[in-house]
Amino acid sequence: MDNLTQTQTDSVADSVQQLFSNRTYLDLLVVGATIVITALIRYGSNSNNLKLPPGPTPAFIVGNMNDIPVYEEWHTLSQWAKRFGEIVYLHVFGTKMLVIGSYRVANELLDKRGAIYSDRPPTPPMMEMAGFANSLTVMGNNPDYRLRRRLFEQHFRYSVIDRHQPTQIRETHKLLRKYLETPESWLLDTKYTIGAIILDLVYGYRVTSDRDEWVEIGERAGTNFQRSVKPGAWAVDVLPILRYVPTWFPFTDWKKFALDSTERRKIQVDGAFEMVKKAMKEGTAHPSMVARYLEENENGADIPEVAIMDMASDAYGGGVETTLSSIYGFLLQMTKHRDIQRKAQEELDRVCPDRLPTFEDRKDLPYIEAISMEVGRWHPGVPQGIAHRLEKDDNFEGQFLPKGSFVIPNIWGMCHDEDTYKDANVFNPDRFMNAAGDGIDLSVHDPRQMVFGFGRRQCPGRAFAESQLFFTMALILKAFYILPPLDAQGREIMQPDAYRSGIVSLPKPFSCRIVPRSRAMAELVRQTE
Ligand code: HEM
Repeated sequence: MDNLTQTQTDSVADSVQQLFSNRTYLDLLVVGATIVITALIRYGSNSNNLKLPPGPTPAFIVGNMNDIPVYEEWHTLSQWAKRFGEIVYLHVFGTKMLVIGSYRVANELLDKRGAIYSDRPPTPPMMEMAGFANSLTVMGNNPDYRLRRRLFEQHFRYSVIDRHQPTQIRETHKLLRKYLETPESWLLDTKYTIGAIILDLVYGYRVTSDRDEWVEIGERAGTNFQRSVKPGAWAVDVLPILRYVPTWFPFTDWKKFALDSTERRKIQVDGAFEMVKKAMKEGTAHPSMVARYLEENENGADIPEVAIMDMASDAYGGGVETTLSSIYGFLLQMTKHRDIQRKAQEELDRVCPDRLPTFEDRKDLPYIEAISMEVGRWHPGVPQGIAHRLEKDDNFEGQFLPKGSFVIPNIWGMCHDEDTYKDANVFNPDRFMNAAGDGIDLSVHDPRQMVFGFGRRQCPGRAFAESQLFFTMALILKAFYILPPLDAQGREIMQPDAYRSGIVSLPKPFSCRIVPRSRAMAELVRQTE
């Protein structure tokens, strides 16, 4: 649970730094006063006599540090919601946290009161040292952030998303051909496909080789991002003064990691940007988000280049792993549910009997849409969302919500709420179908209202992700069977539903066999060349 742990390490860092950097009597008094004030905040109420929401009992000084879960955080957060209610309050060394356990409250606070719930917590030291402070995902709610967000939305919002279809079609068809030729490398091929689509939309860069260097660079940056926010991994997050230790000092591998990550991030952010500028100068640039804003600048706009650069790299960082989480999750579920595949294939064969599905078919393929919705609900790619920060004191239904609190929406818990989704622990796309079975039942809550986060921070890549997930799932199901692996005796192996912890949560390694449904289908796939 990265956000909570950032919170935890940040505040531990602040307190420990205070204690060790100035050991004067006066400073100790200040630290003592801080603890007392924190305790008053925790146990007391505000001037309107409202109480803080309930939560696990904090320990002296460290608060709820030991309650913060590190693995499969979504389960602990969901248990808290059952025990304490829709809003749970915790604090770690005085840093306040509100865990939101229901869509109702997330909608009331994060959506409807977005004006004061759209900030982000301060960036932890290691993340900053590893080069990620300027990522739009972690930036606070300031004018620099709002400019980046606006630029991002202009390229990815629903009304313009169809423009990206030629790239999506080219690359997803290529993926089908790879599944046909080398089905055993489905994991890497799927990853390279999503990377290739985003690189083209953002930089106009066409991936031509099987293992492209820009996909590798983007992936490495993603891994470094996840590593830099890893719970409890970095002493510098606890003791920020350590950042001044020289690299020649013993035991400073963490510092080498930070320097290496910054260097690679620079190549990713600046290098890709310069590549577009060069292509524009040589007249070889393909249309892209970066080229578009650079052209606007040539025509008199004054968009800071640094904003274009940062925001472009966020599309890769924010878009690849999250989309992959759903595609891998889909493949894993398909290995377990032959009946669901059969039903989807009947729908596909009815709507497009002798051709591959297209984006235009989406409205006629509600069951594929329902599978995509259920995959997101089953295990949201970002199960605890990304923490927002409350900018002003607030109150809700008689509870006091203090300024500065980190607000953590337990998206996984909302998606598994039994009052919203009967038999929530069963993977069942039919829950979204109407009684006649020929359309989506609009009375059932669409999990995508939660899966992509909330309010002004809601995922700006949502429209693209939804269309790419639909298209990928429809094409795969039309052309292939997704089957579980076999053991030495040829029996099918049922694999666990296990997911990795972290901001973005993907299924743990699993296997699947991807087999063409028929010769005719294999031929359809070949013809996409
Ligand atoms: C299934 C795929 C995806 C899921 C589940 C997902 C989920 C999320 C969530 C939960 C957030 C946090 C929202 C909040 O703070 O309330 C977020 C933010 C973000 N996402 Fe996505 N996302 C997906 C795909 C994408 C794609 C394809 C892109 C880029 C093309 C993208 C770019 C971003 C960015 C830049 C942010 C930060 C927004 C901000 O802080 O203002 N995401 N996403």
